[in-house]
Amino acid sequence: MSDHPFFFTWTAQNAAKPIELTGGDRAWFTTADGGRWLDLGALAYQVNAGHGRQRIVDAIKRQADQLCLSTANAVYPAKTELAERLLAMAGPGFSKVFFTLSGAEANENAIKIARQVTGRLKMISRYRSYHGASMGALALTGDWRRPPMEPLIPGVIHVHDCDCQQCAHGNRAGNTCTHGMAREIEKTMRLDGERSTAAVFLEPVPGANGVWIPPPDYWPTVRAACDRDGALLVADEVLCGFGRLGKAFGHQHWGVTPDMITVAKGLASGYATIGAVIVHERVAKHFDANILACGLTYYAHPLACAAGVETLKLYDDEKLYENAARLGPVLLRELDAVAAKLAVKSQVRGLGLLAAIAPEAPMDRWQKLSGELAARKLSLHVEAKRGTAIFAPPLCITEEELVTGMRSFGEAAVAAFGGKQ
Ligand SMILES: Cc1ncc(COP(=O)(O)O)c(C=O)c1O
Repeated sequence: MSDHPFFFTWTAQNAAKPIELTGGDRAWFTTADGGRWLDLGALAYQVNAGHGRQRIVDAIKRQADQLCLSTANAVYPAKTELAERLLAMAGPGFSKVFFTLSGAEANENAIKIARQVTGRLKMISRYRSYHGASMGALALTGDWRRPPMEPLIPGVIHVHDCDCQQCAHGNRAGNTCTHGMAREIEKTMRLDGERSTAAVFLEPVPGANGVWIPPPDYWPTVRAACDRDGALLVADEVLCGFGRLGKAFGHQHWGVTPDMITVAKGLASGYATIGAVIVHERVAKHFDANILACGLTYYAHPLACAAGVETLKLYDDEKLYENAARLGPVLLRELDAVAAKLAVKSQVRGLGLLAAIAPEAPMDRWQKLSGELAARKLSLHVEAKRGTAIFAPPLCITEEELVTGMRSFGEAAVAAFGGKQ
């Protein structure tokens, strides 16, 4: 039993290794023991704006003074402004926003909207995916977190993802997916009953499951398959959205327009709990005359909306999406340099400020890596069971901080996996 009067998540309580956060400044956070850590993981991938951003805190305070308490169908400026900003980011054709408190709830409500609009039950998602911990979002999720909770909501079919190195269709160069895993989605729709799929849910780049970059025609091929079948396409941008991949939304790399976009994390950069479903007019118009059977007591909470508006302004003012696009190649270059030093084979993948390295090493080496990183006060996502270390720093990180951090990671990796310093 741990001494704390609350649960730690996704862990046996005896194995929890909590950190006591005290604050932070941009790419750094501080801990109660006096530590100052370089945050190469944006805590839980949400701190896109960085730590200690006073202007977001001030915006929340101002909103608390003006209007702190509201109800779902009330109207106030921060709510309208946040919706308008999200619609503008999503691009032409998007016309409505449904607010939630988290990423899981965004996906949960996208499932409900898709079912209501299409009158269909089935959904397709991928094995290497995480869509949230609630029962619908978990049903979409492909990774280890789903099986212990089954049966979940019925009708979700999982397909393989775009790991080009393992491509069952032989497209190992990663340059096309016309006959590969994107087609697999179309085949699944057909084999499982034409015109019975309500929606396909995809992360633009599967994030926490290892950063798998799709070939250029993957998304367009899936979009075309959805159009032929009448299924909706949902981009889960909870992790990839708000500049993580170097563009406002990750799917914008591939020139497709989804029917719905789900967001959370970077929307208020973790300063308040808020998510959303951004809905295209071709879907939204269904609810002009039909009841939208979705709702939450804390829908568009004023404090969260104010935090969201200020966060989006900060991204614009500081050109943080551009910074992520500029530093993406630096992150990949540094990771390639680490891979070249290691004694074990290591794949590197990445786009924008989201990247992974996958050294092929046994579990005890991964445990050693965690210790080496702690000794250097580097925070990132070490997924030992899946053999990947994932990087997703705040988008305001400087080139110097990134390079210094990655060189320090390189030393930790060589100490753990072997190689030349
Ligand atoms: C792609 C993706 N979707 C959904 C979620 C769930 O978001 P939340 O934890 O806010 O419910 C996450 C969380 O990591 C995620 O990475």
